[in-house]
This record gives sequence, C-alpha cells and structure tokens, in this order.
Amino acid sequence: MKNIVILISGGGSNMAAIVRAARARDWARRCGARVAAVLSNRADAGGLAFAREQGIATAVIDHKTFPTREAFDDALAAQVDAHQPALVVLAGFMRILTPGFVARYAGRLVNIHPSLLPAFPGLHTHRRAIEAGCRFAGASVHMVTAELDHGPILDQAVVPVLPDDTEQVLAARVLTQEHLLYPRAIEAWLQKGH
Ligand code: GAR
Repeated sequence: MKNIVILISGGGSNMAAIVRAARARDWARRCGARVAAVLSNRADAGGLAFAREQGIATAVIDHKTFPTREAFDDALAAQVDAHQPALVVLAGFMRILTPGFVARYAGRLVNIHPSLLPAFPGLHTHRRAIEAGCRFAGASVHMVTAELDHGPILDQAVVPVLPDDTEQVLAARVLTQEHLLYPRAIEAWLQKGH
C-alpha cells in the first residue's frame, strides 16, 4: 500500500477533502493508496481533530520549539519517514521548507498554492490578483522544488474574479475549487504508477 502523508498548519479543509476523496473513490482498491498520517506544525490546527476522528495517525511538530529551520525540518522528516510515504502532500502547510527537506522527497512532494502559477507565488495571492485587475484567479497543484511555488504544475482550477470581490470572497470561491482540484491531481499522480 502506498502511504500518503499530509502536512497542515490550519483548518485543513484541503486535507479533509483528500481524506474524503480517498474513501469515496476507493483509493485503496483503485490506486493502492491510503492517507497514513496527518502532521501539523501547530497544535491548534483545526484539521487535526478531523483526522483523529477518521482514525488517521496524527502528530504535532511545533516549529517554535526548534532553534533552526534545519532542526525543525529534521524532526519533521523523522515523523514523515516513520510512515514510509510514497507521497507527501502539503495542504496549507505554512512553513518554508529547507533545500535538504525538499531534496529528500524529490518527485514525491506536492503542494497546492492559491493562485494560477506562475502568477503570484508567495503570500496574499487573492489580494494581489484583485489589485492587479485579474479577471481570473484560481489554484495550482505542483511538484515542490527548491524554488518556492515554482515546481512543475500538475493541475489547475480557474475561477472568475467578479467586480465586487473582496479578498475573502475570492478566497472562498477559490477554496471551493481547491477541494475538487487537489484530490483529482493526487489521484492522477497515483494512477501514473508512481
Ligand atoms: C488553501 O487556500 C491553500 O491553497 C493555501 O492555504 C489554504 C489552506 O486551507 N496554501 C498556501 O497559501 C500555501 N502557501 P486549508 O487549511 O483549509 O486546506
């Protein structure tokens, strides 16, 4: 069985969408894959309770208790490796990863970013899209490489930017699509025989 390990920092709605898709679309039988663990760098991440209720292993690795980014990433990698993952999924994981961590999981580390990459890497994507006058916004699932938000794109979802959109309204419209996009992209990745 291919193990999927999901890293979160907050609400974990993308993680929950992936867990639900894994069950609804029978990834165990169709893809030989399962969500093995959900790890968070924050103990108060809302998604942890959902994962526990689903019977999924969880762990918290609090970045504030480590002296350096490298020390945190080493501890995180130890927890990830405990589940021998075929795929590591960043789902609203709001830490910049060290080059060493990214290299360790090269080819099996994916992220969802709330913009139509290569536009708007980094933070505040929805505000920047509105300010730039974009007519369309969206989200991208991509392989993670050393350069932040720049790896090869696996799939994207597009939504319109409407005249009266606030940052929050646009974010909610994009997030709804993320919940369809991320499971679809992961399932396609699994079915490519990785
Ligand atoms: C999502 O919109 C995701 O695209 C974004 O954080 C949100 C997490 O929501 N990720 C990033 O900004 C990564 N830089 P969730 O915790 O409910 O899945």
